[in-house]
Amino acid sequence: MHELVTVLDYGSQYAQLIARRVRECGVYCEILPHDITCENLAERSPKAIILSGGPASVLKKGHPDIDPGILDMGIPVLGICYGMQLVAKVLGGSLERGRSGEYGPATIDIDIDGALFSGIGGGIDVWMSHGDQVITVPEGFSVIAHTRVCPIAAMGDLKRNIFGVQFHPEVVHTPLGKEIIKNYLFTVAHCSGDWNMAGFIEESIRAIRERVGRSRVICGLSGGVDSAVAAALINSAIGDQMTAIFVDNGLLRAGEVEEIRRIFTEQYPLNLDIVDARQIFLSNLKGITEPEEKRKRIGNTFIDIFYTEADRIGGADFLAQGTLYPDIIESRSAKGGPSATIKSHHNVGGLPKDLKFDLVEPLKELFKDEVRVLGRELGLPEILINRQPFPGPGLGVRILGEVNEHNVAILQEADLRVQEEIRKYDGYDDIWQSFAVLLPVKSVGVMGDERTYANVIAIRAVSSLDGMTADWVKIPYEVLAKISTRIINEVAGVNRVVYDISSKPPSTIEWE
Ligand code: XMP
Repeated sequence: MHELVTVLDYGSQYAQLIARRVRECGVYCEILPHDITCENLAERSPKAIILSGGPASVLKKGHPDIDPGILDMGIPVLGICYGMQLVAKVLGGSLERGRSGEYGPATIDIDIDGALFSGIGGGIDVWMSHGDQVITVPEGFSVIAHTRVCPIAAMGDLKRNIFGVQFHPEVVHTPLGKEIIKNYLFTVAHCSGDWNMAGFIEESIRAIRERVGRSRVICGLSGGVDSAVAAALINSAIGDQMTAIFVDNGLLRAGEVEEIRRIFTEQYPLNLDIVDARQIFLSNLKGITEPEEKRKRIGNTFIDIFYTEADRIGGADFLAQGTLYPDIIESRSAKGGPSATIKSHHNVGGLPKDLKFDLVEPLKELFKDEVRVLGRELGLPEILINRQPFPGPGLGVRILGEVNEHNVAILQEADLRVQEEIRKYDGYDDIWQSFAVLLPVKSVGVMGDERTYANVIAIRAVSSLDGMTADWVKIPYEVLAKISTRIINEVAGVNRVVYDISSKPPSTIEWE
């Protein structure tokens, strides 16, 4: 069994980033709900505990709390932002609503070296995002860092190994944040760092077998890397007890069905079922233009097909999906924590409330780059692992306005040209996603001597580390020109191509 560090989730958008940073340090980490009892936590024997940040205020009634016994277990605790404020409140410190709050970059001055700040130096740049602040530390605690406007930016009880930091060491905007986390893990909590991806596979296989027992699982394969890796992992755990279902929903990229068939029958054989559902999807999308409604209908149609296929194979209790952390972060927090719902979308938002399957989502705490490492470790072919992410609702969220056979055909042809040209470009490896979008407008053009009134295609290419934030790629004009010329000349029904120059946030990567 590996050493374990637990993050208690108070609803921070960053809870998973904390877990990710810990895993990057070679220590296994899991996220648990903040209301876990001291006894239940003790059963897991964590080497260290981290309390995440969160949107609530400890100064307001009914705020998410902690079983106070957890702070008496003799296990090191690090509270981050809200987590620090909670520790201060529970142990008898005092807090106030910050007069101005502190959001964005700040510099902290370290007052007491050692422990969290071993080898870090005097003043460091950090990322702050808080309204409340601690004004007196609990008994036994010392102030270990401050900023110009926040007199207690970090505190610690060096005897009991309980710490709090007001800033976010888990984000990249705190450049030495990982060093602080390392100090917490190795200097304070004496972890040894015994975890790696092979360990994750081992833990996941055990957990999948335990959860599934002798039941059957169907796994939705979307053609993207995530669901492929999920299928491979579940296949390693339970073999033919799983049926991978690839639904041809008519919203796939050109050539997709043949490629998936080849990979999963020849290169990485598994129990595969390809379902031709093109007509069902198109008829369920007829006349629908509202993006959320489209997503819901596509999601529901998938579920109907999964029910039918489950019956066909004699019943299944579980539905497996390749949901990743960024897919769910904007819909709800990973462990059902109290984070704000920003947007109902993705695999998660599209599921009906009365789903008749239990879910198996073995990747839901991972980020895309971690999934790629996992896929390689499982022996999946490189061609699949290096694929760009592709959304579950497919081209349906890239056709603005009504989805119909005609529009799908135009977009597939345009998208094929984007893929072909961008693949030739030197910077291809730095692109997270590149694709075409069919806009619901027509514009006037002139082809030969004829006036045209035809469709507009937008090209989107973004760079990103994890899909959470993204920037548009400065693709050379020559490449854009080639794409534009090819689409306009070769794809009937298109007379204009535009390039999307918006970053995420405030835009999203997909247009719907
Ligand atoms: P957005 O558009 O929210 O997308 O910036 C972030 C990343 O998620 C992908 N995406 C999805 N993936 N099911 C998925 O599996 C979905 O419904 C879905 N919607 C968006 C998107 O392509 C990008 O990589």
